[in-house]
Amino acid sequence: MHHPIITLLGILLPLFTSLVHANVEKTIFLGPPATTIPSEAPELDDLGLDRLSPQNGVVRTQLNASFPTAEAPEGTDSWFFLENLTPGQRYEVRICWLATQPTSFTLSTHPLPSITEDSTLLTSLSKFSASRLSNPDTNLQVNSLLRGSDTKAANDPAPTTDSVLFLRVRAAADYFSNDESLMRDVPSVAVDVILDPFLWNVFPRSLVPTAGWIVVVAIVAGVVARWVVGELGRVIEDARVERDEGEAKKEQ
Ligand SMILES: *[C@@H]1O[C@H](CO)[C@@H](O)[C@H](O)[C@H]1NC(C)=O
Repeated sequence: MHHPIITLLGILLPLFTSLVHANVEKTIFLGPPATTIPSEAPELDDLGLDRLSPQNGVVRTQLNASFPTAEAPEGTDSWFFLENLTPGQRYEVRICWLATQPTSFTLSTHPLPSITEDSTLLTSLSKFSASRLSNPDTNLQVNSLLRGSDTKAANDPAPTTDSVLFLRVRAAADYFSNDESLMRDVPSVAVDVILDPFLWNVFPRSLVPTAGWIVVVAIVAGVVARWVVGELGRVIEDARVERDEGEAKKEQ
């Protein structure tokens, strides 16, 4: 029997399978109070970091990873710059990567003053910045090509507030392979980095459509369940009637 609801589920369920093959790591934080950096802050642009803002919240890029060592137990550091935040607003940064590249990520956010005060952070940031600036970065080019230079300017305005954070992403390779070259040189990991403001400081904005789907599926599942119970009840009832008729015949 082909019930229309079964057909509908058949259409809906494949939409969810795409969620299964990616891993996610995240950190949740509040927009820091505005710091006293000059609002132009040209030196921050000069670091060559990918920048994320609530207006422009997704960066697709490749991150270097390494096997954990004694000095770097959490792997290789990469840095991003979060700008145009609202002080006190709750945000989440998610990093999504393919399950086919087993990696363990550690995310942390650092306000500007804590970087200048902590020499380990400063060294790590300077090292990352230097290698970004020395390599002509294809990602930067690809990103600005994708956005188009005009839309980039529109989507990515100069900071209107001074609420900014540095995001450090540490990537440690998390696999064992018989392939020697894979064990020697860890390939870079393709990731999406997503900055997501919370709605009313409660719920990540970009998950609202997913939540909508979950509600739809829950309702559909409820209807299906009720229908299945009804059908089962009918089948059992039929069986009982048949049995009773059979017994009645025997008694005659
Ligand atoms: C990533 O690794 C490559 C190869 O080892 C290196 O050339 C590049 O500078 C690294 N990038 C960063 C940002 O550290």
